[in-house]
Formats: sequence, C-alpha cells, structure tokens
Amino acid sequence: MLEDILKRNRDWSDRRNIDEPGFFPRLSDQQAPGFFWIGCSDSRVPANVVAGLDPGEVFVHRNVANIVHSADMNMLSTLEFAVDTLHIREIIVCGHYGCGGVRAATEEFSNNLADHWLEPIRRLARSYAAELAQAPDAETRRDRLAELNVIDGVTRVAETPILQRAWARGAQVAVHGLIYGLKDGRLNDLDCTISRGRPDLEAAQ
Ligand code: CO
Repeated sequence: MLEDILKRNRDWSDRRNIDEPGFFPRLSDQQAPGFFWIGCSDSRVPANVVAGLDPGEVFVHRNVANIVHSADMNMLSTLEFAVDTLHIREIIVCGHYGCGGVRAATEEFSNNLADHWLEPIRRLARSYAAELAQAPDAETRRDRLAELNVIDGVTRVAETPILQRAWARGAQVAVHGLIYGLKDGRLNDLDCTISRGRPDLEAAQ
C-alpha cells in the first residue's frame, strides 16, 4: 500500500516536471495562494481537486463537518497565517451535502469525542427546528443543516479578532460560503459572503 503511494508520487512528480519545468523550484521558494479553504475532512471533498486548483493555489484547513469553533487553536492559527502572513483575500468555508458529521449531529449521542465536536450543529438544528421540520425528508433536512452550518461558519470566521483587525487596517478580505454536491461534483455559492472594503463584492450583495 505505502509502496503504491510512493510510486504514484514519483510518477506524478515526473509528469509534473515534464509538463512544467521549474514548477517545483518555483513553489519551493514561496507560497502565494489566492484562497484559504475551511472544509470537511471527508475524503471525497479534497479542496484542490474539486476547485480545480494546483499545489500552491489554496491554503487548507479541514476538520470533521467543517465546523468553525471560535476557540479552535488549530483553525485560528491557520486563519491567522492565511490573513496576516499570506495576505489571502478569499476565504472559503465549504460544506458538502451528504456530510457524515452533520448526519451524526442529527442522531443519538454516540458517547465519543464527536459528540463534543459536533455540538454547534446540534445547536443550529435546535435554532432552526421550525424551518428544518418543513423539509420533505431526512436527507433534505440534513442537507439544509449542512448549508446552515456553512453560513454559521462564515459568520464565525468574520467575527474573529483576526478578521476584525484585518478589516480595521483596510485589508481587502472576503469570507464566502460554498457547498459541494457529492452527487454531481458541483460547488454552489450560498450567497452569504461577508466582506468589507471590497466594492466589487459589496455591489453584488
Ligand atoms: Co463531511
């Protein structure tokens, strides 16, 4: 298994070298990605692949059910590096339909760590109980909950002191919410972008 991965890597790097000589030396000098992606750990939603981006083009943080916990040091330190050091202007919180983490948050407690991690989704489910009850079936209800989780994540990222400080000093950074469909491979904009000092985006809001 491991040998297989190493061979695939050699083949990939060889091909890449032929297609674009100088690619690796250029990337090794510096990274200047245009996007910061906060997504789900799900193996079916790899940021680079679904967004059609090359190595070096997207800075990534992933966790179970793409939850933005306001005191998650892992997420916050990645976010801070993205905004303050890499000066990334486009932050994307990306959820996906058919998310196992969202599903787990709609079921009985499992008595493991996931119960704690997924708590914000249970809270959202309680807050939006009336709307969610209108969904015709459980799958539609869970998919709407996945969307609400993304919208909540966008708000939470925007509320961090990291973003508040960045906007206060005039940084042109925007936070977007997308959702990915496992069934069709499409990313959809949830139209919940929060931006300040971005006339191009504010005109569209
Ligand atoms: Co997921």
